[in-house]
Amino acid sequence: MVETSDEWIVQRTGIRERRIAGPEETTATLSTQAVRTLLAKRGFDPKEIDLVICATVTGDMPFPSVSCIVQGAIGAVNAGALDIGAACAGFIYALTVASCMIESGQVRNAVVVGGDTLTKYVDWTDRSTCVLFGDGAGAVLVEGKSNTDRGVLKTVLLSDGNGARFIDIETGGSRFPHGSQIAVNRRTKIYMAGSEVYRFAVTAMPDACCKVLDEAGMTADDVDLFVPHQANLRIIESAAKRLNLPESKVFVNVEKYGNTSGGSVPIALAEAVECGRLREGMVVMTVGFGAGLVWGANLIRW
Ligand code: ACO
Repeated sequence: MVETSDEWIVQRTGIRERRIAGPEETTATLSTQAVRTLLAKRGFDPKEIDLVICATVTGDMPFPSVSCIVQGAIGAVNAGALDIGAACAGFIYALTVASCMIESGQVRNAVVVGGDTLTKYVDWTDRSTCVLFGDGAGAVLVEGKSNTDRGVLKTVLLSDGNGARFIDIETGGSRFPHGSQIAVNRRTKIYMAGSEVYRFAVTAMPDACCKVLDEAGMTADDVDLFVPHQANLRIIESAAKRLNLPESKVFVNVEKYGNTSGGSVPIALAEAVECGRLREGMVVMTVGFGAGLVWGANLIRW
């Protein structure tokens, strides 16, 4: 469709494969599947869930929220539901909200699902973006327990709205509504100023990590596994280098999925658990960055 090559894509991004949602699949269907798998694995009754939070910027519709559709589909009849829109940092933000709600005693537990279907907004004639994005969702269950040191230890959440112009989907919101006169000739697909976002990412990722480690009184040596947002292998390697983290402590699966936005960190966490690299009691550092601009990091004892 565009002038590119496998060699260019692999060298510049590390991406070899991606998953594209079918016409019948949506962010809510992928998210529901992720939550169902999680609950089945944990043997957790959906009626016991207090809160469903979905990190997404590709809702099925402007409203209702994805979290409400998921809540209904899984039968979480006693749960509240809300979406969080922080693009590729969405899961970091959503997990923080869940953790704080539990710590403050408002809820006993929360299901946090990150999911996006950005390929539905990809301009397949724009080679600078159409090679990057994939679709997917992942989910975690967060439970309040006394007498444990497990959970989110520290969080850093940051943003810079002055960088909003670097990644956007211009139309479809209240500024340029679809079908309106004012939206004519406006972009309906993803726009990204790749090199500006790249420069931002290679600074923002390690900065957020250093800050969260500082605030926790820890150093990179205390981190057992680093699970960064999977956007680009070069960005991940540059962050790991600045943090002095050896390859053995860095989890990478961008080669299989591309950038799945809100899905990226929870999918990586799930795979890290599955392959035995993330085990109970380990210190895991997650970090995300994306459209907003927005970025943040979580330090978690798993
Ligand atoms: N195939 C071949 N050539 C390409 C392609 C492609 N797919 N895409 C761009 N090029 C060309 C460009 O046209 C340019 O050619 P020119 O020099 O003749 O003008 C050349 O390659 C270099 O372009 P750059 O943009 O400088 O390439 P770069 O090395 O920066 O890589 C990339 C581009 C991969 C997009 C990189 O900038 C990047 O990863 N940026 C960050 C993206 C990101 O992480 N986004 C996350 C947030 S997304 C969200 O929140 C929803």
